[in-house]
Amino acid sequence: MESNKLFYYFLSIVLGGTIAGCNGHQETGQQKEQQELSASAPHPNVEETPTLTGNLLAGKKVYEDYCLTCHQSNGGGVPNLNPPLKGTAYVLGDKERLIGIVLKGSNEGLEINGETFDNAMPPHNFLSDEAIAQVLSYVRTSFGNQTDTIRVNEVKTVRAKLK
Ligand code: HEC
Repeated sequence: MESNKLFYYFLSIVLGGTIAGCNGHQETGQQKEQQELSASAPHPNVEETPTLTGNLLAGKKVYEDYCLTCHQSNGGGVPNLNPPLKGTAYVLGDKERLIGIVLKGSNEGLEINGETFDNAMPPHNFLSDEAIAQVLSYVRTSFGNQTDTIRVNEVKTVRAKLK
């Protein structure tokens, strides 16, 4: 009787130890897997959803109201119809030319990355200087674009020149 109890006592320690050891091993295995997963997982939304504040947030709103239907929420455009706003020479280049396109629109069959587009870009001169500065600042810092923002005064100057 006494030795039986002792036997079970030791058995439970041995088994308990084995199970605990097993669990411990599984846990580290899972943790390792998770670490590997998160290290190799792409972060698809980092570019698309930066935390916007102030003028860039306002610019996003202008974009959604006046540009998104044609140029799409990711700036990718629509093949053959509307050009992309990702990394194009117009978006990243000369500010006066860029502001001019938004104010005047364009029906010139611009060539963007070797493609032309059937739609016309309507003039957006009904937007305030501030709204145009905000939307272009948003565009120039979104969709993977990383260049400087546009000031209200720069829009004002171009608008005055076009009159
Ligand atoms: C009705 C559709 C439409 C809307 C709305 C529109 N665009 Fe466009 N956009 C176009 C088309 C089409 C072109 C190409 C015009 C051409 O080929 O002459 C263009 C060209 C451009 C270009 C120069 C080309 C490039 O891809 O870099 C910029 C910059 C641009 N648009 C920005 C804007 C912004 C900012 C807004 C909102 C304020 C806007 N567009 C609203 C259709 C549109």
